[in-house]
Amino acid sequence: MTTTPVSPSLIATLPGHYYTDPEIFRQEQEGLFESMWFCAVRSSDLEGPGAFRTVQVGRESVIVSRNRSGELRAFLNICRHRGARLCLEQSGEVRRSLQCSYHAWTYDLDGRLIAAPNLVKMPDVDRAEYGLVAVALREWLGYAWVCLADEPPSFEETVVGAAVERLGDSASIERYRTENLALGRRITYDVKANWKLIVENFMECYHCATIHPELTEVLPEFADGYAAQYYVGHGAEFGEEVRGFTVDGSEGFARLPEIAEEQDRRYYAITVKPTVFINLVPDHVILHRMFPLAEDRTVVECDWLYAPEVIGSRADVSKSVELFHRVNTQDFEACERTQPAMASRAYRSGGVLVPTEHHLGIFHAWLTERLGGMGA
Ligand code: FES
Ligand SMILES: [Fe+2]
Repeated sequence: MTTTPVSPSLIATLPGHYYTDPEIFRQEQEGLFESMWFCAVRSSDLEGPGAFRTVQVGRESVIVSRNRSGELRAFLNICRHRGARLCLEQSGEVRRSLQCSYHAWTYDLDGRLIAAPNLVKMPDVDRAEYGLVAVALREWLGYAWVCLADEPPSFEETVVGAAVERLGDSASIERYRTENLALGRRITYDVKANWKLIVENFMECYHCATIHPELTEVLPEFADGYAAQYYVGHGAEFGEEVRGFTVDGSEGFARLPEIAEEQDRRYYAITVKPTVFINLVPDHVILHRMFPLAEDRTVVECDWLYAPEVIGSRADVSKSVELFHRVNTQDFEACERTQPAMASRAYRSGGVLVPTEHHLGIFHAWLTERLGGMGA
């Protein structure tokens, strides 16, 4: 199922069951979240050796932790003995090892099995074979991205490539030095909507004039409904009177030191399929990570990242946080209003996309192709 034309102006969306069918969600878990690079945690959330976080990636729980030499590692959160979940908390810190609370098999911070009750009485057991199952990990923009695939796709093509496709080159995003920025605020949204409604919403701006009064005040071109991601390299320009990317257009912070002149007073949005949105403005970066938990539930963690000096000086970031927090709330409410209708007979064969939304058809075609036509 792709973009069947309804009329030259209107093309079809996905049918409603794509947003409600547990079987399609299962296919997405397998074919997308467990197969592609998945942005799991902010690296700086794991401060020192022994710090760990657990995250849901598709149907798996994954531990991301820092080893003794300060490097990040990722493992399936499963004890190799009889399968008990190893880390029960969402975050924590261990001293030297991860110990299973069932029969006390113990793993070092590189996942090696180092101890187990009576292990010495089983000389034939090769410990090396019973280490934690490692998960591929890459760091980019100061986040740990993990991939459960046996042969992960090219990170450069599928993740960095999304930014290159949107901005025209990789230098444009590197200049924000997102990996060095400090977390000013994190808000977690528990959205009662399918993850694709959230992606589609992020990719279009037809709704901006209706639901985003503050955002369209700061970015007047958004009021015309044209999403900035239409044109390679284009960033939406701040309104003339606007002094900063804040809820009332008041002054923000000093612009990030390495960004180019043409990136000043501009907003760039990047979608890294399937679950990440990156928003670049001159003085901060806002990064959304989605955790699709069910066909009708998605947890979104949104980080506001600033120059370390801004956070170090305890500057008040509330006006800058408030702008996108409102945008998030407005967007997620719209998605939640849409979700129940996906199961309605009125939406059995879907809805329509107007010309300013036609690029969503590319997302739909990508999705159905990845799912291999299963369930279409
Ligand atoms: S299941 Fe973990 S030690 Fe037995
Ligand atoms: Fe929006």
